[in-house]
Amino acid sequence: MASLKTTVAGIALDCCIYNASGPRTGTVNALVKIGESRSGAVLSKSATLLCQDGNPLPRYKEFPLGDACPGSINSEGLPNQGIDYYISEEVVSAIGSLAKHYFVSLSGLSLADNLEMLSRAMKVQGIAAIELNLACPNIPGKPTMAYDFEQMDAVLQAVTTHPSFGSKPLGVKLAPYFDVPHFQRAASILNKYPIKYVVCTNTIGNALVVDAENEQALIKPKAGFGGLGGAYVKPIALANVRQFSQLLREDIDVVGVGGVASGTDAFELILCGAKAVQVGTKHWSEGASCFNRISEELSVLMTKKGYKSIEEFRGKLKENFCRPKAAPVVPKAANDGQGSAGGISALHVLQIVLCILVAVFLAREFKVTSKDVAAL
Ligand code: DHB
Repeated sequence: MASLKTTVAGIALDCCIYNASGPRTGTVNALVKIGESRSGAVLSKSATLLCQDGNPLPRYKEFPLGDACPGSINSEGLPNQGIDYYISEEVVSAIGSLAKHYFVSLSGLSLADNLEMLSRAMKVQGIAAIELNLACPNIPGKPTMAYDFEQMDAVLQAVTTHPSFGSKPLGVKLAPYFDVPHFQRAASILNKYPIKYVVCTNTIGNALVVDAENEQALIKPKAGFGGLGGAYVKPIALANVRQFSQLLREDIDVVGVGGVASGTDAFELILCGAKAVQVGTKHWSEGASCFNRISEELSVLMTKKGYKSIEEFRGKLKENFCRPKAAPVVPKAANDGQGSAGGISALHVLQIVLCILVAVFLAREFKVTSKDVAAL
């Protein structure tokens, strides 16, 4: 039987499938249900410093996309019980008694809140790691921090030099990126700090899903704008996992999340480099039994393919594609906006040489002399 064992941030997990922060993670009962399933770890709802109710209802909806995984849109606005609940003896020992590693997600409303939560969580025995969520798109008036590179840099600097930092591994949850320079910029910032893993990727923020029958947005908060999840985001999650697996330091693990509904989905993320895979939307619609089913499907698929462990195929997406050449560095003014970098490429030289050879061949074949050419 194939082993689904892995490590994230040096923490050994029996199963590489576990829950995403968000759906069904707000209470001890929900967290225990995850712990009782085959989920490899238990990750809390993103906590704020104080308990809060979140945005008005309806704030989460699913809508169809194919048979396997629904799409989802949410703008919950961080409803949660506050950090002291998620690091309480009640919650920590309930998960500990199930012999599962407990990860706590933090999403402070300010840097000061994040530092305060970090220092409280770092002190608690029984918490394996802390996941700093820099990607929540759903707080009215607050931009997604992972898109503001200067702020992201400043936050990571402050967090990793805080006196409380260091006793537990720190992971960072990222927003999805769509442009190669953004992947590079984010990676160059992350690579400066002693973080142990990243999670790629949060929902695609500020999407709008319309209910045509009622001629209104599907959810109420933020004028209907919310984070898009489920099947729609899987290709984006795959791209982000692949990019960050290649751009980050070797000691930073990548955890994949986005549109995972089956063992095959999980397999694809691992093939792109993920050391573990989180499940969000499908956990919401199916409940904690999804971790058993998806793990079993992954195990069956691996056995069929002859893999005994995830390390045998992790990051080994076959290169049947053309790798883009490194773009030449062109001064901005020299770029004509048509994609031409100026100068003659190797391809141009080859084309010219081929033209000359064809001309010489034709000239010989048809006995063309210099006189004939002159006569033209
Ligand atoms: C919420 C949404 C997110 O995408 C996230 O990362 C954290 C919280 C929310 O709306 O509660």
